[in-house]
Amino acid sequence: MKDIDWTHLTFSYTPTDYIVRSHYANGAWSRPYATADPIIPVHAAATALQYAQQAFEGLKVYRTVDGKVSIFRPEMNARRMQQSAEAMYMAPVPTDLFVEACELAVRKNIDYLPPYETGATLYIRPILFGTTPKVGVSPAHEFEFCVVVTPIGPYFPAGFGTTPFIINRHVDRAAPLGTGQWKVGGNYASSFRATEPAHEQGMGVLFLDSEEHKYLDECGGANIFLVKDNTYVTPLSQSILPSIINDSLMTVCRDLGIRVEQRKIPVTELDTFEEAASCGTGAAISPISRIIDPDNGITYEFGEQAGKVCERLYRAIRDIQYARVPDTHGWRHYVEI
Ligand SMILES: Cc1ncc(COP(=O)(O)O)c(C=O)c1O
Repeated sequence: MKDIDWTHLTFSYTPTDYIVRSHYANGAWSRPYATADPIIPVHAAATALQYAQQAFEGLKVYRTVDGKVSIFRPEMNARRMQQSAEAMYMAPVPTDLFVEACELAVRKNIDYLPPYETGATLYIRPILFGTTPKVGVSPAHEFEFCVVVTPIGPYFPAGFGTTPFIINRHVDRAAPLGTGQWKVGGNYASSFRATEPAHEQGMGVLFLDSEEHKYLDECGGANIFLVKDNTYVTPLSQSILPSIINDSLMTVCRDLGIRVEQRKIPVTELDTFEEAASCGTGAAISPISRIIDPDNGITYEFGEQAGKVCERLYRAIRDIQYARVPDTHGWRHYVEI
């Protein structure tokens, strides 16, 4: 294991020893291989660079309580990347290849997998992009799939904290029939102008539906859920990314006897909820202290401490990820080292 101060890592890129690559040409993917060179030469006219013909994923590897190595639900990320690929006119990466490449990247960089007690994890970032040089606006016929891994620190080094969020009605993350439901780079570049100014003030951004700006959509890089009357409520919208953690939490809720509703949530309903949180691979659950609506001068308060349901769900999902409880839904994908 590398000599790294695991508990002080943040969510930033720390170099590791290998990346994994596979190329698509003439209708077929090459065998994935590990290389120590993280630099990928790309033609200046590649479709990825000009037209953002690109998709990516994010998932985590855990060193479990019994010393094994487990990736959380990689088949779900494979499926989501296939959907992104289809939407971007790219060759989809078959699930077997996706999982094999992730496993290889983990095995080759196993010394960067943080120890169990630290709360740090190894983050896997699969990336797919068009490499064919083109000047006409049309899709590539050659693609690169690569997997980068990097150790990241615990999301909550000082305990399960809360974050304030601010509604933004002046920037839309995604158009109603646009690309919001896919994990493609353009969605993120185009929302920096909303997320960066908010981050500088220590806040997250809450995007609304871009048609009417009346309903909650999602956060810059995470879904949102709210809780009232023992009910977990999360937005139903065609422009939000289907979060794998949100999907997992809805299943955990049903296991725990918490009702689940996936429906449109008007901003005006916010004052009826007891708890709010963003959810995604990064933090699993990140409780929201308050949601500020600057256009109406209203602040919806949820408390400076995580709520009871958030706490319960956080513990439940963490216990599954770290193998402290049986894997009743088959979510742990163990990697032979
Ligand atoms: C826009 C957006 N929404 C939601 C999520 C959460 O998805 P997941 O739970 O699969 O990490 C992410 C992160 O991947 C994201 O970028």
